[in-house]
Amino acid sequence: MQITVTVNGERRSADVQTRQLLVYFLRDTCGLRAANVGCDTTSCGACTVLLDGESVKSCTVLAVQADGREVTTVEGLATGGELHPVQAAFQAEHGLQCGFCTPGMVMAAVGLLRENPDPDEDEVRTALEGNLCRCT
Ligand code: FES
Ligand code: FES
Repeated sequence: MQITVTVNGERRSADVQTRQLLVYFLRDTCGLRAANVGCDTTSCGACTVLLDGESVKSCTVLAVQADGREVTTVEGLATGGELHPVQAAFQAEHGLQCGFCTPGMVMAAVGLLRENPDPDEDEVRTALEGNLCRCT
């Protein structure tokens, strides 16, 4: 099926199998490798991206479901050479070790803050509970 998805502000068209997952469209078709595949079963959150501004696990979304919609990956967060504030905060607070889960953690945090700019600790914990850091 032919789909067109706006990825990080750029229109990407491709002929995809209807069973293809969004994460593989991003990684293999678009060449954007930040959304990682840690489990392929909706458990780890390493594949989290924004779909029309809402955080989703891209191993749980078919590429065809993103047709005509906007996807943001961590590669699309920085503007004008400046890190997004959430990226800068992760860097400042050393919020990573091996970095495998980090793109998903960042995108989940960005998704939370778009919905709720001033979350309390419980809300942060709830929002990030679907993202696992396996090396720490
Ligand atoms: S790869 Fe998508 S949740 Fe783990
Ligand atoms: S920093 Fe290694 S999996 Fe989270």
